[in-house]
Amino acid sequence: MKQPENTIRPYRSSDREACLALFDGNTPRFFDPSERAMFSACLAGSTDPYLVIECGGRIVACGGYAVEADGVTASLCWGMVAHDLHGQGLGRMLTQARLAAIRAMPQVAIVRIDTSQHTQRFYASFGFAAVKVTPDGYGPGIDCWEMVLPLHAQGDAMQAAHACMAAVPLDKACRLINHGPAVLVSSRHGGVDDVMAASWACALDFSPPKLTVVLDKATRTRPLVEASGVFLIQVPTAAQLQLTHVVGTNSLADMPDKLARAGVELFGVDGHDLPFVAGCAAWLACRLVPEPHNQDRYDLFIGEVVGAWADTRVFRDGHWHFQDADPAWRSLHYIAGGQFYAIGESLTV
Ligand SMILES: Cc1cc2nc3c(=O)[nH]c(=O)nc-3n(C[C@H](O)[C@H](O)[C@H](O)COP(=O)(O)O)c2cc1C
Repeated sequence: MKQPENTIRPYRSSDREACLALFDGNTPRFFDPSERAMFSACLAGSTDPYLVIECGGRIVACGGYAVEADGVTASLCWGMVAHDLHGQGLGRMLTQARLAAIRAMPQVAIVRIDTSQHTQRFYASFGFAAVKVTPDGYGPGIDCWEMVLPLHAQGDAMQAAHACMAAVPLDKACRLINHGPAVLVSSRHGGVDDVMAASWACALDFSPPKLTVVLDKATRTRPLVEASGVFLIQVPTAAQLQLTHVVGTNSLADMPDKLARAGVELFGVDGHDLPFVAGCAAWLACRLVPEPHNQDRYDLFIGEVVGAWADTRVFRDGHWHFQDADPAWRSLHYIAGGQFYAIGESLTV
C-alpha cells in the first residue's frame, strides 16, 4: 500500500485542536504545562506565519516564525512534532521550510530560537549556536537554550558580532586572556585606524582589571595608542589565522591598505572611539595607564579594562566554551615563524 505523503501548508483555524493535541503529546518532556495557554492564545490571535505538516488527513507537525521589530531578526516559534512520530524527519522538514521562508527575506540576518536541552542538538545541526542557557528556564527540568543562526556568515561578521556580542562583567574580564592567546591590538587616532598582532599580552590585576601588552617602537599601532590613550585587546579565532598573521607581519607604515588586505572588518561600539575587529571571540577596551619609564625602557604598556565583551557562541556565563563550540572559534597561540597552535581540550581538576 502506498504511504500517505507529508504535505506542508499554512495553518487554518480548523487545525487548532490538532495542534493543541500535538502540544499535549509533547508535555511535560518538551513543554511545561504552564505554556499551553500561551500557545493556545498564539494559535487564536497571532498573524505571524504558522505552518502544519499534514499526512493522510492527520496534522503531524506544526511550527511558525516571526520577524522581530528590528526587521533583521527572525524567530522560530512553537515548533513540534507528534510525539509518536519523532525521529522520522518531520522536524527537519518543518525547520527547513521555515528557514527557507526566512532566507527569502534578504533583510533578515539572524534567526533566533528558544528551545530546550532536548532539542538544542537538533537545531545545532542547522548551524544554530547557543548564546545563553537558563537552567529550568521553562519550568522544572526544562532548561531554556537561546540559540542564534547568522544567515550570512561570509562577509557579515559584523552583523553576527552585533547579534552575539554580550558584555562581560569587568570582574571576569581578565578570563578573556587568562589562557594566553595571541591577541589583536587595535588603536585609533587622528582618523587613522590600525590593528597589529601581539603575543606578549598578559592579565595584570583583578580590580579594576588591568593587563599589559608589549608594543615595539617600530609598530605604527604604538604611537596611536600613546596619542589617544586608549586601545583594544581582542581575541582572534582559528578562523582568523590568516588575518592575524597578515596584521602581524605588515605595518600600516609600509602598507596603507593593510587592514583591507588582511580582510579586517571594523565596527563601532557606542561610548568607545575604537576600531573593533569583527569575528573576534572577545574584545577588551582599555584606557592606557601611562608609565613612561616602562613604555620607553621595556615597550611595556599597561591598560585598565574599561569595557569587555565576548561572543556568546564561545564565551558565556563567565566561562569559555571552546569544548562545545565550532573548532573555528578556538583561540590562537603563537610560537614563531608563522606557526600557531589552536587551543586544545579542557582539563578540570
Ligand atoms: C602572532 C604575532 C604576534 C606578535 N606579537 C607581538 C608583540 O607581542 N609585540 C609586538 O610589538 N609585536 C608583535 N608582533 C609583530 C607586530 O604585530 C608587527 O610588527 C605588526 O606588523 C605591527 O603593525 P603596525 O606597524 O601596523 O602596528 C607579532 C606578530 C605576530 C604575527
